Amino acid sequence: MFSLKTAFYLTLISLLEGLSAQNTLLPYEVVFNWKQLDYNFPNQNIKKLLINSKQFIPENNIITGLRVYKDRVFLTVPRWREGVPSTLNYVCLNGTTDISSSPLLIPYPSWEFQELGNCSSFQYVQSMEIDQFGRMWVIDAGRVNIWTEPLNLCPPKLLLIDMEMDEVIKRYEFPDSVVGHTTNFLNDIVVACRDTKEDCFAYITDTYDSRLVVYSLKNDQSWFVHHETMVADEGYNHTYFGTKLHFRMNINGIALDPRFERVYYRSFSSFGLYSYPVSLLNEAKNGERLNDSQVFSHGPLPASLVDCYGLSRILYYGQLANNSIAYFNTTSGRSAESSEVALAQNDMELQIVDTLAFDNEGYLYLTANRLHRYNTRTLNFDEVNFRVIRLFIGNKSYMYSSTDGTV
Ligand SMILES: *[C@@H]1O[C@H](CO)[C@@H](O)[C@H](O)[C@H]1NC(C)=O
Ligand SMILES: *[C@@H]1O[C@H](CO)[C@@H](O)[C@H](O)[C@H]1NC(C)=O
Ligand SMILES: *[C@@H]1O[C@H](CO)[C@@H](O)[C@H](O)[C@H]1NC(C)=O
Ligand SMILES: *[C@@H]1O[C@H](CO)[C@@H](O)[C@H](O)[C@H]1NC(C)=O
Ligand SMILES: *[C@@H]1O[C@H](CO)[C@@H](O)[C@H](O)[C@H]1NC(C)=O
Ligand SMILES: *[C@@H]1O[C@H](CO)[C@@H](O)[C@H](O)[C@H]1NC(C)=O
Ligand SMILES: *[C@@H]1O[C@H](CO)[C@@H](O)[C@H](O)[C@H]1NC(C)=O
Repeated sequence: MFSLKTAFYLTLISLLEGLSAQNTLLPYEVVFNWKQLDYNFPNQNIKKLLINSKQFIPENNIITGLRVYKDRVFLTVPRWREGVPSTLNYVCLNGTTDISSSPLLIPYPSWEFQELGNCSSFQYVQSMEIDQFGRMWVIDAGRVNIWTEPLNLCPPKLLLIDMEMDEVIKRYEFPDSVVGHTTNFLNDIVVACRDTKEDCFAYITDTYDSRLVVYSLKNDQSWFVHHETMVADEGYNHTYFGTKLHFRMNINGIALDPRFERVYYRSFSSFGLYSYPVSLLNEAKNGERLNDSQVFSHGPLPASLVDCYGLSRILYYGQLANNSIAYFNTTSGRSAESSEVALAQNDMELQIVDTLAFDNEGYLYLTANRLHRYNTRTLNFDEVNFRVIRLFIGNKSYMYSSTDGTV
């Protein structure tokens, strides 16, 4: 019988469940925010010239990629459309987090490195990784305006930058047989350095050609693998704030567990999260298809862009459907969806969480960028559109396991 008493208990239980669900939410800080992006131009005349010649079209500039090193926050501005003067940039973090702060983006490592058509410089950088030896690994697609009229200006490449000297210490050009010079969209990168600075592999997603690219620093060689799980699901689409997101995106997000055992990947336009053994990727031949019996599905997971792995074997991601940050405990033995825990939620400030990254102080940083409005050219520049946000997690990136010996 359904008595008043059970009804009360049921209410109490759901109330408690509601409370415990809320308890997982952490406070977060908006570190920087911008209505529109602007750069640290050498002077105002140069800025005017670049605007007049359409080399700077402010409304085409959006922040996506993110990494934090010491007191600098590195941000990429994708060259999806014309008019992006600098694709890799940083802003300074200084102890005080003034939420009204909208700093000018400073080109990294210099303005010279942002020059279109100069193949020693960056053409289009979406993502980078910073290893435990203080080196930034930067992927450059070599192509620009890939959402409008693509220009295949340079071969795709990987550059390593020494973060103390801010100097390029290594340059690797991908052969066309590994990364298509006129077709690629190099999107995201993770790096595994085992015992030495040389014993490193990078795992890179190529969204347009649905490939996972592997690079060995020791052998200075690269190859790609492919599998159907890297391809967007036919007919998958997102409705966000009542509007359809018109992009069909193959493999984009990638993450690496702190034991360097498995690479996790997913495509934005798909329900699945998958992983594959690192040992097999490291020995694969160029063009190889993954072995079906080794592709592990972690079950359906709501849409997100770039994922991020913490040292405690927790996979963090932005949850598109409800404007939140959530995590999945990969050691729990449960499917990703059933063990999802939300950490932060805000319908205004967390509109499209793009990239997540740890600093070395225990903070998880993220960019939120209203990509849906950029996509439809409906950003309102009287409002804040782009944010760098952080929340205290008390852990570090997957990268530091070999250094700390914790896992
Ligand atoms: C804070 O960072 C800005 C650049 O974003 C810099 O101009 C300023 O000097 C810094 N202040 C301190 C106290 O470090
Ligand atoms: C090309 O870019 C490199 C690296 O930024 C720079 O050192 C060089 O001067 C540039 N070359 C030309 C011809 O501008
Ligand atoms: C988009 O997804 C909805 C369900 O979420 C489906 O009904 C619709 O047919 C899809 N549209 C296309 C063009 O695939
Ligand atoms: C795939 O993996 C299974 C299990 O390890 C192995 O038996 C099989 O030979 C592999 N197939 C190929 C084509 O390598
Ligand atoms: C991060 O997680 C690891 C593994 O669970 C743990 O040993 C370590 O103490 C954590 N680090 C911090 C700073 O809490
Ligand atoms: C977010 O949405 C998922 C379903 O997509 C749901 O399971 C989860 O409870 C939601 N989380 C929050 C905090 O609203
Ligand atoms: C993840 O799951 C493992 C195994 O169940 C558990 O020991 C660990 O505490 C969990 N970590 C978190 C952060 O929930």
